[in-house]
Amino acid sequence: MITPPRGPFAVGDQVQLTDPKGRKHRLVLGPGKSFHTHRGALAHDDLIGKPEGVVVTSAGGTPYLAFRPLLADYALAMERGAAVVYPKDAAQIVGLADVFPGAHVVEAGAGSGALSCWLLRAVGETGRLISFERRPDFAEIAAANVRRYFGGPHPAWQLVVAELDPAGIKDADRVVLDMLAPWDYVAAAADMLRPGGVLCCYVATTTQLARTVTAAREQGNFAEPAAWETLQRGWHVDGLAVRPEHRMIGHTGFLVTARRLADGVVAPPRRRRPSTGAEAAAAAAAGADGATAPGAGTGRPAETAEVAGADRGE
Ligand SMILES: C[S@@+](CC[C@H](N)C(=O)[O-])C[C@H]1O[C@@H](n2cnc3c(N)ncnc32)[C@H](O)[C@@H]1O
Repeated sequence: MITPPRGPFAVGDQVQLTDPKGRKHRLVLGPGKSFHTHRGALAHDDLIGKPEGVVVTSAGGTPYLAFRPLLADYALAMERGAAVVYPKDAAQIVGLADVFPGAHVVEAGAGSGALSCWLLRAVGETGRLISFERRPDFAEIAAANVRRYFGGPHPAWQLVVAELDPAGIKDADRVVLDMLAPWDYVAAAADMLRPGGVLCCYVATTTQLARTVTAAREQGNFAEPAAWETLQRGWHVDGLAVRPEHRMIGHTGFLVTARRLADGVVAPPRRRRPSTGAEAAAAAAAGADGATAPGAGTGRPAETAEVAGADRGE
């Protein structure tokens, strides 16, 4: 069974060391090896056989706290081709697109494989994840990242190096799209999904958001889409000094979900009147190719640009 390693640190384990300033360092344990910091070396043998949560001290006297990385740590530290889905969004996708053990999920594009790791963990070995990635160089990075995270091939995963193609895929429980133009694949998603299945799209810009929601509405096989974003603000808690952190993980992307209707069913008309200019905005979005060029108008703050990337790798 594929579960993250537990118990004492063993040879081959990934370890995350945190120094007194909160800086994180990663290593893979090997007998007789040393980890070199500018504060002196640290012997891997000092960690092998010890429980997680121990403190090891470098030759220069600096203490390091040692844990195995969580998936959120791993996903941000691993090699990247395309920009990865940030953990706050991956958590939303797994939770609110309701990805469950045993689910049959289709994903595109795999990018660096970060979201693939989250989805595989959620579906487990009894589920199935088919991930499409059209760029062979990114697919190679995704494959290596997923293999390294699970310590070998995941039995539920099939990586297809090609444009997303619905041919032969039926009765999927979830379709998750993290790509430049998900609206081009709304009909394909409807073909792949079973009634009640969920389409989930992750997009970076408002123009992509508008176009995706409009496409899902107009396609005819989906109930009214939901759209949202999440902002993650840490808090500084120290005695009476309890306040929000100055920096936060602000805009990374928007999420859209929509449920697949049964065949032949027309969604009841929305009671809400379309807002003023809705048609004009939809028409503008439909013709706004330039606005969805990589990184266009994302306005991301520096700290999130590092993660989500002004260019999401397409
Ligand atoms: C932002 S990245 C995905 C990152 C990924 N979710 C992760 O967490 O590592 C978007 C990827 O979609 C791929 N892509 C775009 N359109 C595609 C399509 N039609 N079929 C397959 N892959 C596609 C791109 O090559 C790119 O690697």
